[in-house]
Amino acid sequence: MKTFKTAVLTGLLALISHGAMADAQHPKIGFSIDDLRLERWARDRDYFTAAAEQLGAKVYVQSADANEQRQISQIENLIARGVDVIVIVPFNATVLNNVVAEAKKAGVKVVSYDRLILNADIDAYISFDNAKVGEMQASGVLSAAPKGNYFLLGGAPTDNNAKILREGQMKVLQPAIDKGDVKIVGQQWVKEWSPTEALSIIENALTANHNNIDGIVASNDATAGGAIQALAAQKLAGKVPVSGQDADLAAIKRVVSGTQTMTVYKPLKLIASEAAKLSVQLARSEKPSFNSEYDNGSKKVDTILLNPTSLTKDNVNLLVDDGFYTKAQIAGQ
Ligand code: GAL
Repeated sequence: MKTFKTAVLTGLLALISHGAMADAQHPKIGFSIDDLRLERWARDRDYFTAAAEQLGAKVYVQSADANEQRQISQIENLIARGVDVIVIVPFNATVLNNVVAEAKKAGVKVVSYDRLILNADIDAYISFDNAKVGEMQASGVLSAAPKGNYFLLGGAPTDNNAKILREGQMKVLQPAIDKGDVKIVGQQWVKEWSPTEALSIIENALTANHNNIDGIVASNDATAGGAIQALAAQKLAGKVPVSGQDADLAAIKRVVSGTQTMTVYKPLKLIASEAAKLSVQLARSEKPSFNSEYDNGSKKVDTILLNPTSLTKDNVNLLVDDGFYTKAQIAGQ
């Protein structure tokens, strides 16, 4: 009798540890983040964890520090520890199909957070409308420099957002290019969204064009910062409009001081809490409400798309009203 009881107990424990018998009221959620070294993701992590715990969930956060192999093994570890849902900010959107298949086989739901995982059987995608972000970036630079030589400073080539941003940027720039007002003198993707990569790309672009660059469409604040450093070395900071996104604190100070033309504010508390709600709903087999759909190469993915806000020095105080920064932070105290 004793061995039978032990066997049943062991079986039960194995089931529970692999999530099959998980407690839906207290779901376990893995949060696999590409790289916490980029400012915004630490805030996504904090907001997500707070919101998920509020809903009764337990959250396990992992950062891959921009290493695709590390991210894959971290996701495998989360599956092994029996989480019910894994939320992923992919470092490389194209290499996760096998580990996502492993998750699905183990009964784990998979959410693509902010960046779309391609060619994989994910359950949902949540992001801001990145095409709209790209349109805002190009519009911000175009209104400051309606004519001239433009350089397009892209995002990471491993990040599907970089391509969607570029599509939005070109939608706004194409008419000015067709009229001959704007000439694209160069464009490059920026590995890992790295500010130092952006710095050297713009240094080279300024040299190659004898400083005749009239606008830089940068795809986020970190890379905008690198570009503005290169401009400053040529005494051009504040003279050449530069776009961005994320409302990083350093970028807000540049927008206020006039060296960065604009950024795009994406309320991280909103995406993080919506993602937490979505994850808990999936863990409880409840039906989330989606407002969009993206084809990720292997399926049409149910999507929640949120609205971004273009920020210039005229409306930067919106961040204080929203509790994203304090007035003192923006004033630089
Ligand atoms: C993108 C994200 C942006 C940008 C970048 C850097 O995928 O949508 O907010 O900052 O990553 O992490």
